[in-house]
Amino acid sequence: MEDTKKIIFSGIKPSGDLTLGNYLGAIKNWVKLQDQYDCYFCVADLHAITVRQDPKDLRRRTLEILSIYISSGIDPEKNTLFIQSHVPAHSEASWLLTCSSYMGELGRMTQFKDKSQKYGESIGAGLFNYPILMSSDILLYNADLVPVGIDQKQHLELARDIGERFNNLYSPTFTIPDAYIPTSAAKIMDLQDPTKKMSKSEDNPNGYILIMDPVEVIRKKISRTVTDSIGIVNYSDDQPGVKNLINILSSIKGISPKDIVKNYEGLGYSELKKDVAEAIITELSPIQTKINELLSNKTYLEDIYKKGAEKANYVANKTLRKMQKKIGLIPR
Ligand code: TYM
Repeated sequence: MEDTKKIIFSGIKPSGDLTLGNYLGAIKNWVKLQDQYDCYFCVADLHAITVRQDPKDLRRRTLEILSIYISSGIDPEKNTLFIQSHVPAHSEASWLLTCSSYMGELGRMTQFKDKSQKYGESIGAGLFNYPILMSSDILLYNADLVPVGIDQKQHLELARDIGERFNNLYSPTFTIPDAYIPTSAAKIMDLQDPTKKMSKSEDNPNGYILIMDPVEVIRKKISRTVTDSIGIVNYSDDQPGVKNLINILSSIKGISPKDIVKNYEGLGYSELKKDVAEAIITELSPIQTKINELLSNKTYLEDIYKKGAEKANYVANKTLRKMQKKIGLIPR
Protein backbone atom coordinates (compact mmCIF):
# COMPACT_ATOMS: atom_id res chain seq x y z
CA MET A 1 0.00 0.00 0.00
CA GLU A 2 2.81 2.42 0.94
CA ASP A 3 4.09 2.50 -2.65
CA THR A 4 0.78 3.56 -4.13
CA LYS A 5 0.55 6.72 -2.05
CA LYS A 6 0.98 10.01 -3.87
CA ILE A 7 3.90 12.19 -2.90
CA ILE A 8 4.01 15.49 -1.05
CA PHE A 9 6.99 17.81 -0.81
CA SER A 10 7.20 21.07 1.12
CA GLY A 11 9.61 23.11 3.19
CA ILE A 12 10.17 26.25 5.23
CA LYS A 13 13.30 28.37 5.23
CA PRO A 14 14.97 29.17 8.56
CA SER A 15 15.45 32.85 7.75
CA GLY A 16 13.54 34.12 10.78
CA ASP A 17 11.51 32.74 13.66
CA LEU A 18 8.35 31.08 12.36
CA THR A 19 5.05 32.92 12.45
CA LEU A 20 1.41 31.99 12.78
CA GLY A 21 1.30 32.49 8.98
CA ASN A 22 3.80 29.67 8.45
CA TYR A 23 1.91 27.49 10.87
CA LEU A 24 -1.60 28.02 9.48
CA GLY A 25 -0.59 28.45 5.83
CA ALA A 26 1.71 25.42 5.68
CA ILE A 27 2.38 23.20 8.71
CA LYS A 28 -1.23 22.70 9.85
CA ASN A 29 -2.09 21.36 6.40
CA TRP A 30 0.88 19.04 6.36
CA VAL A 31 -0.39 17.51 9.57
CA LYS A 32 -3.79 16.94 7.96
CA LEU A 33 -2.36 15.43 4.79
CA GLN A 34 0.34 13.19 6.26
CA ASP A 35 -1.71 10.00 6.43
CA GLN A 36 -2.88 10.09 2.84
CA TYR A 37 0.48 10.90 1.26
CA ASP A 38 4.11 9.87 1.30
CA CYS A 39 5.53 13.15 2.62
CA TYR A 40 8.93 14.83 2.43
CA PHE A 41 9.29 17.93 4.58
CA CYS A 42 12.60 19.73 4.62
CA VAL A 43 14.09 22.62 6.52
CA ALA A 44 15.18 24.73 3.56
CA ASP A 45 18.47 26.05 4.94
CA LEU A 46 19.93 26.64 1.46
CA HIS A 47 16.99 28.94 0.75
CA ALA A 48 17.61 30.89 3.95
CA ILE A 49 21.13 31.89 2.88
CA THR A 50 19.78 33.87 -0.09
CA VAL A 51 19.98 36.67 2.47
CA ARG A 52 22.83 36.99 4.98
CA GLN A 53 22.29 34.83 8.08
CA ASP A 54 24.11 34.84 11.35
CA PRO A 55 25.58 31.27 11.44
CA LYS A 56 24.59 30.74 15.07
CA ASP A 57 20.98 31.82 14.45
CA LEU A 58 20.80 29.71 11.31
CA ARG A 59 21.83 26.60 13.23
CA ARG A 60 19.40 27.36 16.07
CA ARG A 61 16.48 28.01 13.73
CA THR A 62 17.15 24.95 11.62
CA LEU A 63 16.78 22.66 14.63
CA GLU A 64 13.91 24.73 15.96
CA ILE A 65 11.95 24.28 12.71
CA LEU A 66 12.53 20.55 12.82
CA SER A 67 11.18 20.56 16.38
CA ILE A 68 8.19 22.65 15.28
CA TYR A 69 7.34 20.13 12.55
CA ILE A 70 7.37 17.26 15.02
CA SER A 71 5.65 19.17 17.85
CA SER A 72 2.85 20.28 15.53
CA GLY A 73 2.01 16.64 14.93
CA ILE A 74 4.09 15.55 11.96
CA ASP A 75 5.07 11.99 12.72
CA PRO A 76 8.80 11.52 12.09
CA GLU A 77 8.30 7.77 11.74
CA LYS A 78 5.81 8.08 8.90
CA ASN A 79 7.23 11.11 7.09
CA THR A 80 10.68 11.97 5.80
CA LEU A 81 11.97 15.00 7.71
CA PHE A 82 15.35 16.32 6.69
CA ILE A 83 17.64 19.30 6.33
CA GLN A 84 17.94 20.44 2.72
CA SER A 85 21.73 20.90 2.71
CA HIS A 86 22.14 17.26 3.82
CA VAL A 87 20.98 16.20 0.37
CA PRO A 88 23.54 17.57 -2.11
CA ALA A 89 21.35 16.50 -5.06
CA HIS A 90 19.26 19.65 -4.47
CA SER A 91 22.20 21.90 -5.30
CA GLU A 92 23.33 19.72 -8.20
CA ALA A 93 19.88 19.47 -9.78
CA SER A 94 19.50 23.18 -9.30
CA TRP A 95 22.49 23.84 -11.61
CA LEU A 96 21.19 21.42 -14.22
CA LEU A 97 17.81 23.14 -14.21
CA THR A 98 19.41 26.60 -14.18
CA CYS A 99 20.80 25.72 -17.59
CA SER A 100 17.30 25.30 -19.02
CA SER A 101 15.69 28.26 -17.24
CA TYR A 102 15.22 31.76 -18.59
CA MET A 103 16.20 35.12 -17.10
CA GLY A 104 12.81 36.41 -18.27
CA GLU A 105 10.72 33.93 -16.31
CA LEU A 106 12.82 34.41 -13.15
CA GLY A 107 12.64 38.19 -13.49
CA ARG A 108 8.84 37.98 -13.56
CA MET A 109 8.62 36.46 -10.06
CA THR A 110 6.80 39.02 -7.91
CA GLN A 111 8.82 38.18 -4.79
CA PHE A 112 11.99 38.93 -6.73
CA LYS A 113 10.53 42.13 -8.17
CA ASP A 114 9.50 43.31 -4.69
CA LYS A 115 12.91 42.52 -3.24
CA SER A 116 14.79 44.16 -6.11
CA GLN A 117 12.86 47.35 -5.46
CA LYS A 118 14.24 47.24 -1.93
CA TYR A 119 17.85 46.26 -2.73
CA GLY A 120 18.32 47.63 -6.27
CA GLU A 121 21.52 46.57 -8.06
CA SER A 122 22.93 44.92 -4.97
CA ILE A 123 20.17 42.31 -4.75
CA GLY A 124 21.80 38.90 -4.30
CA ALA A 125 21.96 36.53 -7.28
CA GLY A 126 20.66 33.82 -4.93
CA LEU A 127 17.36 35.65 -4.63
CA PHE A 128 17.05 35.65 -8.40
CA ASN A 129 17.87 31.95 -8.76
CA TYR A 130 16.06 30.64 -5.73
CA PRO A 131 12.87 29.55 -7.52
CA ILE A 132 15.06 27.11 -9.50
CA LEU A 133 16.37 25.58 -6.26
CA MET A 134 12.77 25.31 -5.09
CA SER A 135 11.83 23.60 -8.38
CA SER A 136 14.67 21.12 -7.83
CA ASP A 137 13.43 20.41 -4.30
CA ILE A 138 10.01 19.49 -5.61
CA LEU A 139 10.93 17.75 -8.87
CA LEU A 140 13.64 15.51 -7.38
CA TYR A 141 10.99 13.71 -5.32
CA ASN A 142 8.44 13.58 -8.14
CA ALA A 143 6.00 15.31 -5.84
CA ASP A 144 2.34 15.25 -6.86
CA LEU A 145 1.27 17.89 -4.36
CA VAL A 146 2.97 20.87 -2.73
CA PRO A 147 1.09 22.35 0.25
CA VAL A 148 2.04 26.03 0.56
CA GLY A 149 0.58 29.46 1.26
CA ILE A 150 -0.57 31.52 -1.70
CA ASP A 151 2.65 33.58 -1.77
CA GLN A 152 4.44 30.48 -3.15
CA LYS A 153 1.91 29.80 -5.92
CA GLN A 154 3.87 31.62 -8.59
CA HIS A 155 7.05 29.73 -7.69
CA LEU A 156 5.14 26.50 -7.96
CA GLU A 157 3.87 27.44 -11.41
CA LEU A 158 7.47 28.06 -12.41
CA ALA A 159 8.44 24.63 -11.06
CA ARG A 160 5.75 23.13 -13.29
CA ASP A 161 7.08 25.04 -16.32
CA ILE A 162 10.67 24.03 -15.61
CA GLY A 163 9.66 20.39 -15.09
CA GLU A 164 7.57 20.28 -18.26
CA ARG A 165 10.35 21.89 -20.25
CA PHE A 166 12.85 19.28 -19.10
CA ASN A 167 10.38 16.48 -19.87
CA ASN A 168 9.88 17.87 -23.40
CA LEU A 169 13.58 18.57 -24.06
CA TYR A 170 14.70 15.09 -23.03
CA SER A 171 11.97 12.58 -22.17
CA PRO A 172 9.40 12.27 -19.36
CA THR A 173 11.41 12.50 -16.14
CA PHE A 174 9.44 14.51 -13.58
CA THR A 175 5.93 14.39 -12.19
CA ILE A 176 4.34 17.81 -12.69
CA PRO A 177 3.21 18.95 -9.22
CA ASP A 178 0.03 20.72 -8.14
CA ALA A 179 -0.17 23.37 -5.44
CA TYR A 180 -2.35 22.73 -2.40
CA ILE A 181 -3.40 26.03 -0.90
CA PRO A 182 -5.56 26.31 2.22
CA THR A 183 -8.80 28.30 2.00
CA SER A 184 -8.93 30.55 5.08
CA ALA A 185 -5.19 30.49 5.75
CA ALA A 186 -3.88 31.03 2.19
CA LYS A 187 -2.48 34.38 3.27
CA ILE A 188 -2.50 35.42 6.92
CA MET A 189 -2.02 39.17 6.99
CA ASP A 190 0.11 41.51 9.09
CA LEU A 191 -1.75 42.57 12.24
CA GLN A 192 -0.63 46.19 11.93
CA ASP A 193 -1.04 46.50 8.17
CA PRO A 194 -3.63 43.98 6.95
CA THR A 195 -2.85 44.74 3.30
CA LYS A 196 0.55 43.03 3.76
CA LYS A 197 1.37 39.35 4.34
CA MET A 198 2.33 38.38 7.91
CA SER A 199 6.04 37.75 7.54
CA LYS A 200 8.96 36.64 9.68
CA SER A 201 11.14 39.27 8.00
CA GLU A 202 8.88 42.17 8.97
CA ASP A 203 10.46 44.86 11.17
CA ASN A 204 7.50 45.60 13.45
CA PRO A 205 6.99 42.63 15.84
CA ASN A 206 3.42 43.77 16.58
CA GLY A 207 2.53 42.79 13.02
CA TYR A 208 3.16 39.09 13.54
CA ILE A 209 2.58 36.31 16.06
CA LEU A 210 5.52 33.97 16.43
CA ILE A 211 4.90 30.29 17.07
CA MET A 212 7.07 30.72 20.18
CA ASP A 213 5.44 33.95 21.44
CA PRO A 214 4.49 33.75 25.14
CA VAL A 215 0.78 33.78 26.03
CA GLU A 216 0.77 37.40 27.24
CA VAL A 217 2.50 38.60 24.10
CA ILE A 218 -0.10 36.85 21.93
CA ARG A 219 -2.94 38.49 23.90
CA LYS A 220 -1.33 41.90 23.61
CA LYS A 221 -0.57 41.65 19.89
CA ILE A 222 -4.08 40.47 19.03
CA SER A 223 -5.72 43.13 21.18
CA ARG A 224 -3.70 45.76 19.30
CA THR A 225 -4.63 44.44 15.85
CA VAL A 226 -5.51 47.25 13.47
CA THR A 227 -9.19 47.01 12.47
CA ASP A 228 -11.53 49.78 11.24
CA SER A 229 -14.22 52.15 12.44
CA ILE A 230 -17.19 50.20 11.03
CA GLY A 231 -17.61 48.28 14.28
CA ILE A 232 -19.53 45.28 12.85
CA VAL A 233 -17.95 41.85 12.42
CA ASN A 234 -18.16 41.22 8.65
CA TYR A 235 -16.13 39.06 6.33
CA SER A 236 -15.40 41.72 3.77
CA ASP A 237 -12.48 43.10 1.73
CA ASP A 238 -13.45 46.53 3.03
CA GLN A 239 -12.51 45.33 6.54
CA PRO A 240 -9.17 43.58 5.93
CA GLY A 241 -8.11 43.58 9.61
CA VAL A 242 -11.34 41.95 10.77
CA LYS A 243 -11.30 39.58 7.79
CA ASN A 244 -7.82 38.46 8.79
CA LEU A 245 -8.94 37.76 12.38
CA ILE A 246 -11.89 35.74 11.04
CA ASN A 247 -9.53 33.79 8.76
CA ILE A 248 -7.25 32.97 11.69
CA LEU A 249 -10.18 31.77 13.78
CA SER A 250 -11.68 29.86 10.87
CA SER A 251 -8.46 28.06 10.14
CA ILE A 252 -7.76 27.12 13.76
CA LYS A 253 -11.31 26.02 14.59
CA GLY A 254 -12.23 24.54 11.21
CA ILE A 255 -15.40 26.68 11.07
CA SER A 256 -16.33 28.59 7.90
CA PRO A 257 -15.97 32.40 7.96
CA LYS A 258 -19.73 32.68 7.33
CA ASP A 259 -20.55 30.71 10.48
CA ILE A 260 -18.04 32.71 12.49
CA VAL A 261 -19.68 35.98 11.42
CA LYS A 262 -23.06 34.60 12.61
CA ASN A 263 -21.59 33.97 16.08
CA TYR A 264 -20.67 37.66 16.43
CA GLU A 265 -24.02 39.20 15.59
CA GLY A 266 -24.54 42.07 17.99
CA LEU A 267 -20.98 41.73 19.33
CA GLY A 268 -17.96 43.95 18.68
CA TYR A 269 -14.31 43.61 17.78
CA SER A 270 -13.12 43.22 21.37
CA GLU A 271 -15.06 39.92 21.73
CA LEU A 272 -13.69 38.70 18.42
CA LYS A 273 -10.13 39.64 19.38
CA LYS A 274 -10.44 37.92 22.73
CA ASP A 275 -11.64 34.70 21.11
CA VAL A 276 -8.94 34.82 18.44
CA ALA A 277 -6.23 35.27 21.07
CA GLU A 278 -7.57 32.36 23.14
CA ALA A 279 -7.86 30.12 20.08
CA ILE A 280 -4.24 30.83 19.12
CA ILE A 281 -3.07 30.20 22.69
CA THR A 282 -4.98 26.91 22.93
CA GLU A 283 -3.49 25.81 19.61
CA LEU A 284 0.11 26.91 20.23
CA SER A 285 0.68 26.30 23.96
CA PRO A 286 0.97 22.49 23.81
CA ILE A 287 3.14 22.80 20.71
CA GLN A 288 5.46 25.24 22.49
CA THR A 289 5.86 22.87 25.43
CA LYS A 290 6.83 20.03 23.09
CA ILE A 291 9.20 22.22 21.10
CA ASN A 292 11.10 23.10 24.28
CA GLU A 293 11.26 19.45 25.28
CA LEU A 294 12.60 18.41 21.89
CA LEU A 295 15.16 21.20 21.74
CA SER A 296 16.71 19.84 24.90
CA ASN A 297 17.04 16.44 23.25
CA LYS A 298 19.53 17.09 20.46
CA THR A 299 20.38 13.39 20.05
CA TYR A 300 16.78 12.59 19.21
CA LEU A 301 16.63 15.40 16.65
CA GLU A 302 19.94 14.28 15.17
CA ASP A 303 18.60 10.79 14.81
CA ILE A 304 15.51 12.07 12.95
CA TYR A 305 17.37 14.30 10.51
CA LYS A 306 20.04 11.70 9.81
CA LYS A 307 17.49 9.00 9.02
CA GLY A 308 15.52 11.53 6.97
CA ALA A 309 18.58 12.51 4.95
CA GLU A 310 19.36 8.88 4.24
CA LYS A 311 15.96 8.27 2.69
CA ALA A 312 15.86 11.64 0.93
CA ASN A 313 19.35 11.12 -0.53
CA TYR A 314 18.34 7.76 -1.90
CA VAL A 315 15.24 9.11 -3.68
CA ALA A 316 16.79 12.39 -4.84
CA ASN A 317 19.96 10.74 -6.17
CA LYS A 318 17.92 8.36 -8.27
CA THR A 319 16.21 11.28 -10.02
CA LEU A 320 19.47 13.23 -10.27
CA ARG A 321 21.22 10.31 -12.01
CA LYS A 322 18.38 10.15 -14.51
CA MET A 323 18.70 13.86 -15.21
CA GLN A 324 22.47 13.64 -15.65
CA LYS A 325 22.20 10.69 -18.01
CA LYS A 326 19.54 12.32 -20.17
CA ILE A 327 21.54 15.53 -20.42
CA GLY A 328 24.59 13.58 -21.62
CA LEU A 329 26.85 13.62 -18.58
CA ILE A 330 28.93 10.45 -18.26
CA PRO A 331 27.76 8.22 -15.37
CA ARG A 332 30.22 8.10 -12.48
P1 TYM B 1 8.74 30.44 3.51
O1 TYM B 1 9.80 29.89 4.39
O2 TYM B 1 8.74 31.90 3.21
O3 TYM B 1 7.32 30.06 4.07
C1 TYM B 1 7.03 28.73 4.45
C2 TYM B 1 5.58 28.38 4.19
O4 TYM B 1 4.72 29.25 4.93
C3 TYM B 1 3.79 29.85 4.05
N1 TYM B 1 3.50 31.22 4.54
C4 TYM B 1 2.28 31.70 4.75
N2 TYM B 1 1.06 31.16 4.55
C5 TYM B 1 -0.01 31.92 4.87
N3 TYM B 1 0.09 33.18 5.36
C6 TYM B 1 1.29 33.77 5.56
N4 TYM B 1 1.38 35.00 6.05
C7 TYM B 1 2.46 33.00 5.24
N5 TYM B 1 3.79 33.27 5.32
C8 TYM B 1 4.41 32.16 4.88
C9 TYM B 1 4.49 29.88 2.70
O5 TYM B 1 3.57 29.99 1.64
C10 TYM B 1 5.18 28.54 2.72
O6 TYM B 1 4.30 27.51 2.37
N6 TYM B 1 10.76 28.86 -0.77
C11 TYM B 1 9.85 28.53 0.31
C12 TYM B 1 10.31 27.31 1.09
C13 TYM B 1 10.56 26.15 0.22
C14 TYM B 1 9.57 25.31 -0.37
C15 TYM B 1 10.33 24.36 -1.14
C16 TYM B 1 8.19 25.26 -0.32
C17 TYM B 1 11.78 25.71 -0.17
N7 TYM B 1 11.63 24.63 -0.99
C18 TYM B 1 9.67 23.39 -1.89
C19 TYM B 1 7.55 24.28 -1.07
C20 TYM B 1 8.28 23.36 -1.84
C21 TYM B 1 9.77 29.71 1.25
O7 TYM B 1 10.57 30.59 1.21
O8 TYM B 1 8.73 29.63 2.15
